[in-house]
Amino acid sequence: MNSSASTSDRQDVGKLLDTVLALAVDMMDADRGAIVLQQSGQLNVVASRNLPPESASSLTELSSSIVRKAVSTAAPILVHDVQADPRYGQAASVVLHQITSVICAPLFMHDRVIGVIYIDSRSNRQRFTDENLNFFDIFARIAAIAIDYARSYSELYRDALRLQDEAQQRWRFEEIIGQSPKMQEVFNLMRRVMHSDISVLLEGESGTGKELVARALHYNGPRRDRPFVTQFCGNLAESLLESELFGHKKGSFTGAIADKKGLFEIADGGTFFLDEIADISPTIQTKLLRVLQDGEIRRVGDTEARRVNVRIISATNKSLKGEVEQNRFREDLFYRLNVITVKLPALRERQSDIPLLVNHFLSVAAKRGQNTKRITPRALQALVNYDWPGNVRELVNTIERAYLLSEGDTIDVGDLFIPEAEQLSLRRRTLKDFERDIVLKVLKEYGDNKTLTAESLGVSLRWLHYKLNEWNASKMKDEKVGS
Ligand SMILES: Nc1ncnc2c1ncn2[C@@H]1O[C@H](COP(=O)(O)OP(=O)(O)O)[C@@H](O)[C@H]1O
Ligand SMILES: [Mg+2]
Repeated sequence: MNSSASTSDRQDVGKLLDTVLALAVDMMDADRGAIVLQQSGQLNVVASRNLPPESASSLTELSSSIVRKAVSTAAPILVHDVQADPRYGQAASVVLHQITSVICAPLFMHDRVIGVIYIDSRSNRQRFTDENLNFFDIFARIAAIAIDYARSYSELYRDALRLQDEAQQRWRFEEIIGQSPKMQEVFNLMRRVMHSDISVLLEGESGTGKELVARALHYNGPRRDRPFVTQFCGNLAESLLESELFGHKKGSFTGAIADKKGLFEIADGGTFFLDEIADISPTIQTKLLRVLQDGEIRRVGDTEARRVNVRIISATNKSLKGEVEQNRFREDLFYRLNVITVKLPALRERQSDIPLLVNHFLSVAAKRGQNTKRITPRALQALVNYDWPGNVRELVNTIERAYLLSEGDTIDVGDLFIPEAEQLSLRRRTLKDFERDIVLKVLKEYGDNKTLTAESLGVSLRWLHYKLNEWNASKMKDEKVGS
């Protein structure tokens, strides 16, 4: 949607320049004309009339000494009989093109010269006058305002597009790390709902990646060029949340000093991410239901209904179904929000992903810092064993802190500051111990499926069988010794 808007936008600036120049040439009955703008320290011809195409973008065809003078003095210039004028007559371009009369006026942005508008006449049929000069100067001042406006508008647009590109890069699917079966399920569901407008409910503990998934759904879906708006709904005063979501009319309550657009209007055409949805009050639940049913909102204190087209993605760290059963959440709203539920697993339910995540966050940290750091097997094992009540968010913080605090280029258990790592650093464990722990954990995650486990660990099935037998044997031996 926006990419076509941007092209037409850039065309709009070009068109404006052409129109301004055409007007100038016609009004002054000139032969040729050009608009020259300063662009990164250079003077470039950005619009031209009757200049041969091969030279239309350079200054050589114009009387460049006159153009430069208008820029440097910031004053309009009129020259009659250019060839007779000792100041310009020798300039190669003048000689070459038999220019007889020139007017050149600066284009101002605030008090700065951003370029000039130039016209000349090669025949004797028109010789510009001082009166022409005054008129042309005023014309140039007005034109400059239009050009400046159009230019900064298109620059703004380009900036916005660039930011959007960045956002789309940043929220790519591939940025969501995970290969465990539980994450595969998440990805499968995401792929199914990505290209539609279906309302999605994201359930999961805090820090499991709900917002990350919401953004990925938006930035990889059909609404990617429209806004992604988020609102945190947990423990907010009802009136505040209401006016944030739906906006208000001036004077509808103390402090409503002007009309205000609500976030639903701002998100129009895009996606609205409602975080901690389980906490919203019954009044807001009812209003939300109206948006979902009729696609209409009403600003607080307003009688007029406004149409909005918004895709809803909501998130909760509670069971929303449970809230319905406790009569704290409207059932009809629940079904509207929850066309599809995506459950984000707690990190402790997908321990096999921890090494992947750790390496990912280490390389992110390395990109920001100067050097790459690696993690010792012992430290990695401690991270895999820990139960991560704060989930991936806590892991991100742990890795970033360890990266900053560790000396040298390795991160060891002592750099982690997680409770279990401290115990672990006291206990002596061998590499074989770690190997066994990891294999058994992954095996459990895959519901004892050995083929998938071997695949996920990048080992052969034969190796896995061999190891399992070995561990079984030693376990039986231990038990015998113990009895
Ligand atoms: N699967 C994942 N891969 C990479 N980073 C993740 C993943 N899940 C969560 N994160 C990161 O963890 C942090 C918390 O994620 P967030 O989406 O805010 O969680 P939630 O909304 O569930 O509280 C963010 O920095 C996010 O980028
Ligand atoms: Mg969150």
